[in-house]
Amino acid sequence: MSQITVRGGKPLKGRVDLKGAKNLVTKAMVAAILGDTPSELRDVPHISDVEVVSNLLKLHGVAIDFADDGTMKLDPTNVKSARMVDIDAHAGSSRIPILFCGPLLHQLGEAFIPDLGGCHIGDRPIDFHLDVLRHFGAVIEKQPNGIRMSAPNGLKGAKVSLPYPSVGATEQVLLTSVRAEGLTELSGAAIEPEIMDLIAILQKMGAIISVDTDRVIRIEGVKSLTGFSHRALFDRNEAASWAAAALATHGDIFVGGARQQEMMAFLNVFRKVGGALDIEEDGIRFYHPGGELNPVVIETDVHPGFMTDWQQPLVVALSQAKGLSIIHETVYENRFGFTEALVEMGAQIQIYRECLGGTPCRFGQRNYYHSAVISGPTKLQGADIRVPDLRGGFSHMVAALAAEGTSNVSNVQLISRGYEHFLQKLEDLGADFTYSE
Ligand code: EPU
Repeated sequence: MSQITVRGGKPLKGRVDLKGAKNLVTKAMVAAILGDTPSELRDVPHISDVEVVSNLLKLHGVAIDFADDGTMKLDPTNVKSARMVDIDAHAGSSRIPILFCGPLLHQLGEAFIPDLGGCHIGDRPIDFHLDVLRHFGAVIEKQPNGIRMSAPNGLKGAKVSLPYPSVGATEQVLLTSVRAEGLTELSGAAIEPEIMDLIAILQKMGAIISVDTDRVIRIEGVKSLTGFSHRALFDRNEAASWAAAALATHGDIFVGGARQQEMMAFLNVFRKVGGALDIEEDGIRFYHPGGELNPVVIETDVHPGFMTDWQQPLVVALSQAKGLSIIHETVYENRFGFTEALVEMGAQIQIYRECLGGTPCRFGQRNYYHSAVISGPTKLQGADIRVPDLRGGFSHMVAALAAEGTSNVSNVQLISRGYEHFLQKLEDLGADFTYSE
């Protein structure tokens, strides 16, 4: 268990450089299983989610070479089945094994998934995934510690309609359909930039995929695919996190590798709150221009909306804005648990079951605390905090850095699931902290 002691109240200033998006890279690594030849993925971050997926791939016979500069070579020529207990031991709390199913069913005819974890942000079921796989002809068998899947008659293209534009379920369809026999039509697809980058990778491998209007994706199955060579899309969630950290600490951070196009919804909100930004060729500078910050009303949504992963660090900045801000979380039913620690530090945040803000969502009239009202500005005081999940944890770190006095933040290793060289970056930005194992 690792802990850092933060002496807050110092603006974060300097430069951080991004690598590839966690939420693309891990899926691209799985896609390599579909190829008959090795793949090369560049800009892979050194984060623990990548380590988990590497270990799972190695367990399935994929040879991996991961250089310090972020270039990863994946050779799937000796791919093999693995036992559920071993998958379980390597998966940790990751939900990624569910995405191995399509590729493994194509290559080996069977796949296992242990009971899955992931960040504790609601129930995070896998019903859409299982439904999708059944549509392609997979046979699903419940076993004591997980699920065994097989494809006795091979996988066949299907017409699939998702009840909600789930990122993972859309990836499931893509990774399964590209080598399924015949045509697949997916409606209700997620169209996040990370999904578009995965489609680009699959096309490089030889897949035939078209993205139509209105969330429809069509895939024409092919018999075999080759490896790919690809530079991963930048991590826009990390970019938004550092932007919020700049605002909350009265700082000035240049985020190298951040791009405007994939972050438009965030940039609009950042500007409305009163943050300043300069969009450059090689990144975006985010800074607090002085003066008061403004409250905002935000609804998290699927792309092209405001991402759910952007709200947590921004809440800290909103605690410094003058007036009432409202956030309606419509992607996950339970993603405000992290606000409890912020309240302990002096923020005024109340969470509600009602859909506050614009449109009623699928969590309304149910028992989910999925709306938050933040009243500011309030002074934040240092506290003892335990990191609960990846994005909530980053938010706590930002609060500790913005607060007066000292905070002890434990369980910080969880943040390295998604933020590469996190402590080094904090040091480069001038944060005052000490680290202990
Ligand atoms: N859902 C179901 N059934 C399913 C799958 C999803 O009901 O079978 C629900 C979820 O419970 C949730 C909603 O659908 O309410 C959206 O979930 P989605 O499937 O889109 O999320 P995911 O694929 O599990 C990815 C990212 C998340 C990010 C979401 C939304 C990865 C590894 N994770 O999760 O990232 O918040 O999409 O954009 O790509 C993070 O990076 O911290 C993180 C949680």
